[in-house]
Order: sequence, then structure tokens, then C-alpha cells
Amino acid sequence: MAAATGTSPLLGFDAVPTSTADSFVVPPGYQAERLISWGDPLFSNVAEFINGGGNSAADQLGQFGDNNDGMSFFKVDDSTAILAINNEYCNYELMFAHQGKQMTAEDVKKAQAAQGVSVLTLNKSADGWRFAKDGKYNRRIHANTPMMISGPARGHALLQTSADPKGKQALGTFNNCANGMTPWGTYLTCEENVNGYFGSTGQVEITPAQARYGIGLEDAGWQWHAFDKRFDLAKHPNECNRFGWVVEIDPKDPSSTPIKRTALGRFKHENAELVIDKDGHVVVYLGDDERGEHLYRFVSEGKYNPNDMAANRDLLDQGTLYVARFDAADGELKGKGEWLELTFGKNGLTPENGFNSQAEVLIHARLAATQVGATTMDRPEWVAAHPTEPVVFCTLTNNKNRGVKDNQPVGGPNPRAENHYGQILRWQPANGRHTAAAFDWDLFLLAGNPTVHRNNLYAGSANINKDNMFNSPDGIGFDQAGRLWIQTDGKYSNEGDFAGMGNNQMLCADPATGEVRRFLTGPIACEITGLAFSPDQKTLFVGVQHPGEDLAGSHFPLGGDSTPRSSVMMITREDGGIIGA
Ligand code: FEO
Ligand code: CA
Ligand code: CA
Ligand code: CA
Repeated sequence: MAAATGTSPLLGFDAVPTSTADSFVVPPGYQAERLISWGDPLFSNVAEFINGGGNSAADQLGQFGDNNDGMSFFKVDDSTAILAINNEYCNYELMFAHQGKQMTAEDVKKAQAAQGVSVLTLNKSADGWRFAKDGKYNRRIHANTPMMISGPARGHALLQTSADPKGKQALGTFNNCANGMTPWGTYLTCEENVNGYFGSTGQVEITPAQARYGIGLEDAGWQWHAFDKRFDLAKHPNECNRFGWVVEIDPKDPSSTPIKRTALGRFKHENAELVIDKDGHVVVYLGDDERGEHLYRFVSEGKYNPNDMAANRDLLDQGTLYVARFDAADGELKGKGEWLELTFGKNGLTPENGFNSQAEVLIHARLAATQVGATTMDRPEWVAAHPTEPVVFCTLTNNKNRGVKDNQPVGGPNPRAENHYGQILRWQPANGRHTAAAFDWDLFLLAGNPTVHRNNLYAGSANINKDNMFNSPDGIGFDQAGRLWIQTDGKYSNEGDFAGMGNNQMLCADPATGEVRRFLTGPIACEITGLAFSPDQKTLFVGVQHPGEDLAGSHFPLGGDSTPRSSVMMITREDGGIIGA
């Protein structure tokens, strides 16, 4: 691991100190503006946001969704662009005057309307990029938007419901965490903690597969199943199998039907990092964010055609899904690894072991991963591939179960018991080929607290010091120059193991030298998540998610006594230069 030098030629900004303030702080010479916040109307015939939970479900259907997360920027022309943004979940304590304590059918409809994806038209003027209300691409996709199911699991019995006996058309997407984009101009939105929206009004038997996906008689408190029978396992046992997928959306066609791509497997998807291998195959790296779950890779059967965008549209329907196994000598923080194929009939994925088709392998990808011997990880969040070098990074955000649960031994890329700081894994595919079976891995950094812990791994790796420390890396992404941007979803108590870390933040790293420098800090009780650059690299869009969650006292972004609102921020340099340089 490289030591911090403070001399990286890639990092041209002054470090921002930690903060516990209710503000969004960027480096000297930078400026940040609010692009849009939860509840802002996308259309002029829609109500404005009302503080304290006054908006209706109908209002929310035409407003920017809640808890913005991953996002992608699509250039249309020099003065027009589209920003597609995930809306992950809701904070009932902020969304409803009753704080979620007296839910009604209308309230559930509002929560369903607040999740999914917001597609925004942006126009560029002398003042920079601005959201265009009534812009032609503006669209809300939510938990009741009709979707197509495609790929090998389309039509399988486990996807059939009374409303959709053919198992080919689902209703909606929700808990949309992070994202991806394709070179053929589509947006990938990833369904993550979908289990928490299902519950049962009666006694039903929970199958081992449902249990592995966290689906049980009790929901996570969202109460959808009490008011919308689609989410009631007692009435519709297969509805839950229609979520936990990657969904492909054409942002340039507001009338298009989103498509659930089952070839990419069903789990708690974090993001979908897509690269085109040298030989033209489409490779998508996929994390499953749960303690002790796995890291996946999809390789398309067909090849990308740069001269015919329409020919690429269904490349994500046919291919091979793999899951990673990491090998290391005892105590080594580097080693080798292998991608294990998840194909029906291979590697024990047979009827004797409970797999009767490729559809079942994909619907129960977690069970298949266990069958083939995948490594249990410390919560794989985002994956980011370097723009020019064959090297890939993945955040392993934290894992309190490491070394505690039998299936999660300490070692390899998960080297700390009760890991509450997280680490960033890096691997280099064999021969520089993203389609290769093998790779070499190491840890780019171990987050930690060198002011609390000394001479052990909890102090963090050599590139972590008292001036750049943080916990729980989550969102990551590269800019065109190869800077690695790191966002945190960590503990913001600023006490104990987290003393001196302050609010959640965004940092920037030089992958060559290992240097890490803090770039911004967020308001009270927020997560920083979601990033997208304009093609000229002069505007950076960053998400502030759930400021003031759990009534923590934020009034971001508008101050006063306003309701705190998740927001997309827009960062530029005062001199108009490239962000980070
Ligand atoms: Fe939605 Fe794993 O973060
Ligand atoms: Ca995340
Ligand atoms: Ca997280
Ligand atoms: Ca979050």
C-alpha cells in the first residue's frame, strides 16, 4: 500500500477539515449550489413542496423523489442534458406529520411515489447547468410504473402472480440504491433492500430462499403490505421475487417501458459498473450489499457494436453471471482470486442441490453463490473501474458480523473482526482483461482511526491519517483523469471509534500514490451518495441523502425551521476549471 505523500499531481485542491455543522462545505475556490431537492415539482402543474409532510401522494408523483442516491449524466447536446437519479427510500419521520405512526393507504401511495427514479432535463446557460421544469425528458418512475421482465428468468413460475400470470410484466421499482450507465445511452437502476417492503397478514411458511433474502412475516416498518395486498406474502407469495433486479431505462424516451434484466441476478444490488472489454464483451460488476454476501460479475454473450446503438439494446439479456472467490495466505492483505461461474448444470448448480434451471440460479443467486464457494464479504457497495487502466475498486463498507458469524471468518480482503470502518478493495484482471477468470487483488485502503487505535489494523492503512480519516466508504467513481472519488455512509457521532471524523463526506484519492484528501463535508445526519460529472469535468453533481434523519436537527438545505430534504448539489470552480485538478 502506498503511503500518503501530500504531493499527488492529480489532487489540486486544499483539504476540507471535518465538520459537524449543518452545511455543505467545499474547498476554497469551489462553490456549491442546490440543483433540486425532495418534493420540488418536475412540472408546473404540480404543487410545490410543503414543509411538515403536507403534500399528497398525487403531488409526490410529479415531484422529485426522496433520498436521492446514484445518478448519471447523459449529454443530449451542448446546452441540454439529462440527469437520471435514483430515489432510494423515505424518512417517514420527515415525510408525514404523524412521523409514520398512523399510516394510511394514501400515505403508502405517497411513499411508493417517492421512490424509484427521477429523470430531469437540464439546460445550460451562462450560469451553468439548471433544472428545466417541464423539460421534455422529465419523468418520474416509481413503485407502480409498469416494467418488463426480460432475460433468462422471464416468465418463470417463481415470477408469476395473479396480476401477471405470465411472469413477464412487473409493477414498479423501489429502494433504488446506486446505478450505472451504458455506452448505448441507457440508465441502470439497482434495487437494493427490497425485502423490507414485504410482510404478511397471515401465517405463511417462509422458505429458506426467502429467508436468505431477508424476507419474513415482518416488514422493515414500511407497512406497505397492510394497505397494498401486492406486498402481502400471505396473498401474493411470488411478488417479492420480482424485485432485487437491475432495471434498464431509456432516459431519452419518457414513454419507454423500463426493463428488469434478470441475467444480472437477483440480490441486494448496489451499483452496476459497466465496462466494455477489449474484445467487445460487456462486463458489469455488481455488489450485493449485505453482511457476508458477495461480489458478482456479468459477461455478455454478444459484443458491443459502437456503430449501431439499437443493436446493443438487449446485450444485458444473455451472458454469464459469476461470483468472486478471494484467496490469500494467512494475514496477507493481497492475493489471487477467481470468478466462479453461476450457470445451471455447472459447479454443483444442479437439481440435486435445488437448482432446476438458469432462471432459478438467477432468482436465487445468493444460494447459487454459496453453492459454488464464493467468499463472504464485508458488504460490497459500489464498484468503480478505472477509465483507462485495467483495475477495479469496490468499497466494502463495514461488517459487524465479521469474525462473529461462522460463515464470515477474518481474513483475505476482510481482515478485521467486527469491522466498523470499512475498506476499499482493488483488483487487476488477469492479462488486463475484464473477461478473464482470474485476478490479483489487494486493499487500496483500510479506513480507520489512527487517533484512537495504534499499531493495529483499526488505525487504518498507511494512507489514512488524522487529517483524512473517515468511516464506511460507500459511493465511489472515477473522473476522466483517473481520480477516485469516495463518498461515505458512516457513523457521524464524532465520538469513540469515530472521534474526529465528523459528518459524512466525500474524498478524492490518487490511485497511483494512494493519497486521500477530503473534498467536501455534508450537513447533519446525512449520507453523501451519488456522483456525476458533466462531460467537460467542470460540474460535479453530488447527492446529500437524508439530512436530519431520525429528527437529528438538520434544516438542510433551506435553513430556518424548514423540513430537511435530500438534495442534489452542483459543484463548480470559481475559475471555471476542472473539478479536483
Ligand atoms: Fe443503498 Fe448499500 O447502499
Ligand atoms: Ca450505498
Ligand atoms: Ca451504505
Ligand atoms: Ca443511505
